[in-house]
Amino acid sequence: MPLVAFVSPKGGVGKTTLAANVAALLAARGRDVLALDLDPQNALRLHLGRSLREEDGFLSGLSRGAAWHTALRPTSYGISLLPFGAVEPRQAMELGRLLTDRPEALSGPVREMLADARRIIVVDTPPGPSPALSALLPLLDLPVVVLLADGGSASLIPRIADGSFLGRGTMATRVAGQAVLALNQVEVDQPLSSAVLDMARTSMGSRLLGVIGRDLAVAEGLADRRLPVEMHGTRAAEDLALLAEALLGRLGPPALPPHHSLLQDWAGRQ
Ligand SMILES: Nc1ncnc2c1ncn2[C@@H]1O[C@H](COP(=O)(O)OP(=O)(O)O)[C@@H](O)[C@H]1O
Ligand SMILES: [Mg+2]
Repeated sequence: MPLVAFVSPKGGVGKTTLAANVAALLAARGRDVLALDLDPQNALRLHLGRSLREEDGFLSGLSRGAAWHTALRPTSYGISLLPFGAVEPRQAMELGRLLTDRPEALSGPVREMLADARRIIVVDTPPGPSPALSALLPLLDLPVVVLLADGGSASLIPRIADGSFLGRGTMATRVAGQAVLALNQVEVDQPLSSAVLDMARTSMGSRLLGVIGRDLAVAEGLADRRLPVEMHGTRAAEDLALLAEALLGRLGPPALPPHHSLLQDWAGRQ
């Protein structure tokens, strides 16, 4: 526990970028982090420094019934990564059907991953609704919605604020009601960007988790195979650190190791 997912009605808003950087920051603060990629684009592994040539993955192996831990890959950030795996579009659609018919094919293994109380699972998702995200809704603790500070995103903020962006179902509404917002690529000196930021502050209140400025260092970092959070002194690194701190604040302190109990503390003092 817990399960945090970077989600959005839109693509290209920074879900993968934010998921990778926040996962790295949480690991740097000593948390046990597992990064899980649910997007067939299979891009999270690239942000986390794994090779482009690597094809194996967790989701791509689900239909074969492969055990989840065989897909785990280490990263230089101390994060354990479950890449999606390389798939053809047809395989991605088949996987979608499998998860629609049998959501437990995904929720079962993720429940096992969550059994370690100290672990934080950071999930990257494809844009919009997906069978994979639906399968995990009952397990999700914190959806972090990512939007850009532009006109297209502004029109979506009311649906994030009222909790209807995941649909009208009971579980979707419950989970969406807990969603927090990360507004990405903000440019405070641009009137539209700053107006969207004001709207997000008014609509979301304390559920505006973080604001990340538009920073060329983000794209340059990806080309250099470095995370923006490693580029100290950049605006992106500072904003992402604040986002990770705010997220940790929401999650609270790490759970005690499972074997730890007050009774053991007491016994230890005798
Ligand atoms: N704060 C930012 N400043 C500048 N560029 C950014 C920022 N966040 C993301 N980007 C760029 O935007 C593009 C889309 O980001 P990505 O994380 O792939 O979005 P998504 O996962 O939502 O599709 C990438 O090229 C990324 O480098
Ligand atoms: Mg992505």
